[in-house]
Amino acid sequence: LHVIHITAEMAPVAKVGGLADVVTGLGKALQKKGHLVEIVLPKYDCMQYDRVCNLRALDVLIESHFDGQLYKNKIWVGTVEGLPVYFIEPLHPDKFFWRGEYYGEHDDFKRFSFFSRAALDFLLQTGKKPDIIHCHDWQTAFIAPLYWEIFVNKGLNSARICFTCHNFEYQGTAAASELDSCGLVSKSLNRSDRMQDNSAPHKVNSVKGGIVFSNIVTTVSPTYAQEVRTKEGGHGLDSTLSSHFRKFIGILNGIDTDAWNPASDVFLPVQYNAADLQGKVENKQALRRRLGLSSADVTRPLVGCITRLVPQKGVHLIRHAIYLTLELGGQFVLLGSSPVPSIQKEFESIANKFKNHDHVRLILKYDEPLSHEIYAASDMFIIPSIFEPCGLTQMISMRYGAIPIVRKTGGLNDSVFDVDDDTIPSQFQNGFTFANADEQGLKGALVRALNLYKNNPESWKQLVQKDMNIDFSWGTSAAQYEKLYSMSVARARAAKR
Ligand code: ADP
Ligand code: GLC
Repeated sequence: LHVIHITAEMAPVAKVGGLADVVTGLGKALQKKGHLVEIVLPKYDCMQYDRVCNLRALDVLIESHFDGQLYKNKIWVGTVEGLPVYFIEPLHPDKFFWRGEYYGEHDDFKRFSFFSRAALDFLLQTGKKPDIIHCHDWQTAFIAPLYWEIFVNKGLNSARICFTCHNFEYQGTAAASELDSCGLVSKSLNRSDRMQDNSAPHKVNSVKGGIVFSNIVTTVSPTYAQEVRTKEGGHGLDSTLSSHFRKFIGILNGIDTDAWNPASDVFLPVQYNAADLQGKVENKQALRRRLGLSSADVTRPLVGCITRLVPQKGVHLIRHAIYLTLELGGQFVLLGSSPVPSIQKEFESIANKFKNHDHVRLILKYDEPLSHEIYAASDMFIIPSIFEPCGLTQMISMRYGAIPIVRKTGGLNDSVFDVDDDTIPSQFQNGFTFANADEQGLKGALVRALNLYKNNPESWKQLVQKDMNIDFSWGTSAAQYEKLYSMSVARARAAKR
């Protein structure tokens, strides 16, 4: 199969969260299976250019329609993690991707509808005929209506469209008329069975367009796929998802086990594996020294947390976990940052309060190398999310031997199984879970984890080794995507005959 991902993020060059990891991990896994996988990404000024190999501009400029005019786009090509990537640089006076950041601009709807249109113009004008176009989240969900409303008639008609929504909280809505800029006809699309927002009828909704117009719609775990079809969990799209339930499925993400491997991780002071955990202890001591935490008692448990600080992640519970861990005799390290100024400020003041403390450190920035060191150094890892479409940090932490303490929701519910839950076969028990998103719930799980750690070091070690050996690679999930793609392509071929 020829698969082209059109996406706003890709690890490690342009990463805000897990979406970036998924594009690279799934892409690499399908490439390994023999498929041709290519990626189309905006050419952001703030990308990590040192992680792109052989970046060069193509001779051709791509013409793309927007606001009734033709704009030229420069196309760059390079390789990221072995995957061919095309970067689109719009030569548009608004300098859409020249803003020093990925998202959060007042004209994000315009920036990404422009990019979606330009990406399809690029495929058409370079004669690419993929079997599957895979788009992700609201930023490129425009691809689905654009493809069926415009490009099929222009001759880009080989592909089936797969849309993956990684988080239904972010939907990309705007006044209906904004759709016309990229060539879509708002008059025909602003209908309740098409792109009209379910709660604001004068607005259109990009994610809804992705759901309605794609051949395959996925989200990133089976439990989240169920949750979003309920009123409480659907962020207003439950009815749309229910009417399209036949093409909607939840597939649990994997992680890139080459990039996340404590036995070969170049960011770690000491590499280690499940058979030899001494290296893990050395990483813990090294991190403590680096952050100025007390390293006097090597057995003092270290609790880690690496996250975007947004309400979804249960920020009030994260805050509570810091104080609770301290009270219970542990150390806490948080690496995170927030796009919400009030949350960032709140955590800055906590960071400040603890800046010389022996047992707590908050590092409020995005720092990929440091994240690896924290996974390796932590004994436990806390994820008290209010909702969590999939979550990757619980899988990464297990691979590094940090036992996850999570709220049972979304993908956390599909990947973390409580060591004290007798209904779960013991070979699957791998962490600590709690149901209620409150301080009591969190406390119950944290206390159980700390007790096992302190009172039963042998069982704890076995749990660490078991978790490190769980297979979280993309193999199984990539095979599920492969099957969905193939079935959809076969259906389209059969219909043409
Ligand atoms: P989400 O996509 O909702 O943020 P995920 O758990 O799917 O959550 O993915 C988060 C990814 O981002 C993980 O790879 C995690 O290690 C990384 N990450 C989150 N915050 C930071 C940070 N401050 N510095 C470095 N990496 C981070
Ligand atoms: C989103 C979700 C997260 C998921 C990630 C990758 O950012 O919040 O739960 O793991 O996408 O699919």
